[in-house]
Amino acid sequence: MSEVPAIRGGRPVRTRPFPSWPQWGEEEERNLLEVLRSGVWGIGGRRAFEFAAEFAKYSGCRYGVPCANGTVALKVALRAVGVGEGDLVVTSPYTFIATASVLLELGAVPVFADLMEGGLHMDVTTVRDGLEVKALLPVHIAGMPNPMDAIWEVSRERGIPVVEDAAQAHGSEWRGRRAGSLGNAGCFSFQSSKVMTSGEGGCITTDSEELADLCWSLINCGRTRTADWYEHELIGYNYRMTEFQAAVLQAQLTRLDAQIERRQRNYGILLEESSSLRALEVLRPPEGTTRFNGYLVPVRIDRSRAGDVDKRRVVEALRAEGIPASPGYTVPLNRHPGIARYFLSKLPDRSLLGPLPNAEAAVRDVFWLPHVVLLGDQEDVLDVVKALVKVDAEIENL
Ligand SMILES: Cc1ncc(COP(=O)(O)O)c(C=O)c1O
Repeated sequence: MSEVPAIRGGRPVRTRPFPSWPQWGEEEERNLLEVLRSGVWGIGGRRAFEFAAEFAKYSGCRYGVPCANGTVALKVALRAVGVGEGDLVVTSPYTFIATASVLLELGAVPVFADLMEGGLHMDVTTVRDGLEVKALLPVHIAGMPNPMDAIWEVSRERGIPVVEDAAQAHGSEWRGRRAGSLGNAGCFSFQSSKVMTSGEGGCITTDSEELADLCWSLINCGRTRTADWYEHELIGYNYRMTEFQAAVLQAQLTRLDAQIERRQRNYGILLEESSSLRALEVLRPPEGTTRFNGYLVPVRIDRSRAGDVDKRRVVEALRAEGIPASPGYTVPLNRHPGIARYFLSKLPDRSLLGPLPNAEAAVRDVFWLPHVVLLGDQEDVLDVVKALVKVDAEIENL
């Protein structure tokens, strides 16, 4: 492998790759061959439902509905809890675009809360009083659970449902309860970067049989579980998961706990060993987190020490040291041009647009390391620390 010069010259900290992703083995191969040879690749198969039931149980829920991806999981779960034309839904501005775009697809209007001070999760108390809100949509960003106390309080007081965007949070826990079981419905993604993956895929988890049935119907063209094939009680979609996806996911689920334990252990080392950084800070999960799946390692640039260096330069410097890094989200969704085009005219009040200072700080100052940096051994983590220390020392000159 040719050596990449570190950004300010000299030898890069690391020239070996981190563990590759995705990881698979004989179990995925065996399951896939079984599906292939059975000739039952979609309708009529049992695996997708079996997988969803296993994943729901893993996530602390009674019911699981398999679907094509995380985006449609969100769309279907939101529609199932009653979100439709003109409804206001409180959500986070610091998230993947799908969290908000599905609301627009349903004709609903995202109301973006600001983030908690110094954090990456929505603070529902920043939304002004007096709005008629239909649902709450917290995002367990980076795999770190959104603190739930204030969300549960608003949900209880107003009698409105909570749908979790748990797309990144497989196996994470808030006060001992798994992501996906913290609201009325949880929505997961199994897209390629996630901590378990089938390339694409999704699942809705819930404790409500009624909600599960409605989601099942919406994903299956409006059919019901018991009626004839060409009876459609409502207008739904074909958002079904294939048996091939389920075959891979069943195997991936058997690896998840060991991988999370490894990431948790390595994350602990990373936190401890990086405590002397001056201008960079490896972020901790919010208080109340009892299990963090390690999907992303968010790192914050301290402006009082780093000046106004662009986070993209810091990311480039880390990459030059052989550490994979990403700038992450660079625009909060309340002023995302793609989102704004569709929802400005529907907003009941322009003051709802913001400004959202904590969200602005997050997109300006926070970048990510991917979960593979936590999937190796202690030596791999210490390389990450070395690179962070090196870039931290040079940050004002970048
Ligand atoms: C926070 C969040 N929400 C929703 C999604 C959408 O999931 P998918 O890509 O499976 O449609 C993703 C992932 O890509 C995500 O990270």
